[in-house]
Amino acid sequence: MAITFTGSTAVVTGAGAGIGAVVAARLAARGADLLLVARRGDRLTALADRLQTEHEITASTVAADLATSEGRQHVLDTVRERDLRVGTLVNNAGFGTYGDVVDTDPDRLEQMIALNVGALTTLTRGMLPHLLAVGSGAVVNVASTAALQPVPHMAAYGASKAFVLSLTEALSVELRGSGVHAIALCPGSTRTEFFDVVGSEEPVVGRFQTADQVVDTLFRALDRRRPPSMVVSGTANRLLGAATRVLPRRAVLAATARAMAG
Ligand SMILES: NC(=O)c1ccc[n+]([C@@H]2O[C@H](COP(=O)([O-])OP(=O)(O)OC[C@H]3O[C@@H](n4cnc5c(N)ncnc54)[C@H](OP(=O)(O)O)[C@@H]3O)[C@@H](O)[C@H]2O)c1
Repeated sequence: MAITFTGSTAVVTGAGAGIGAVVAARLAARGADLLLVARRGDRLTALADRLQTEHEITASTVAADLATSEGRQHVLDTVRERDLRVGTLVNNAGFGTYGDVVDTDPDRLEQMIALNVGALTTLTRGMLPHLLAVGSGAVVNVASTAALQPVPHMAAYGASKAFVLSLTEALSVELRGSGVHAIALCPGSTRTEFFDVVGSEEPVVGRFQTADQVVDTLFRALDRRRPPSMVVSGTANRLLGAATRVLPRRAVLAATARAMAG
């Protein structure tokens, strides 16, 4: 049965920019109420105001740093205190670091794993009972094409996204028959603020997609009668992803090393 977004709230993390902001707008157009999460509350409030004006929905915000356990708890407490009927969770907040592991600021590495892995896992666990009670929604976890093979010079980022992909595919099996779908979205290079945060466009592989194109891919997958447990955005990225599954691991690693060397 198709997923229904009306009549429940979608929690979207990293909703203040890029892919998250587009996902939030698309969910609002589908009639979902929204709880928007990121650190910069002013951006979230502006988006919530706009979406409430454009669509007949309620949008609220929580400014929280999801790299901290306090931030994650703040989001979970907000859902409980406001008695929100959460039907969909979009774990989109995430960032990457570029450079060899030995050269990367250890605190930055820790924050990245705390956000990309820790927050995503804790929020999934904390929200699932709500989603299962609603019984028609999705856990959308934003992974990356970096999840599909080891990525030299973005090693920990790639590994964090491999965790996201593995967790989500396994979760999709655990959720069978519940009406809740788990889907890992794997974008390739996408024109957002991501590479400003990375601090370099050196790791860009292939052509950029827009956040709209990536979100189109997501909703096409969600609208399928049986949504897949993972979806790669962009034809070239899908072909590369397919190649990583059939080629020997050593060949994939060598090819990725060449691509990352520019
Ligand atoms: N762009 C790409 O090429 C690309 C490719 C593959 C996968 N992805 C993945 O797509 C997802 C979205 O990235 P994007 O490209 O849309 O990046 P973006 O434009 O930089 O947006 C990231 C969002 O996450 C929020 N965020 C960052 N750190 C946070 C924290 N500690 N706590 C709460 N929110 C936080 C940011 O808002 P605040 O700064 O206000 O907190 C912002 O709203 C990420 O998981 C990324 O890894 C991106």
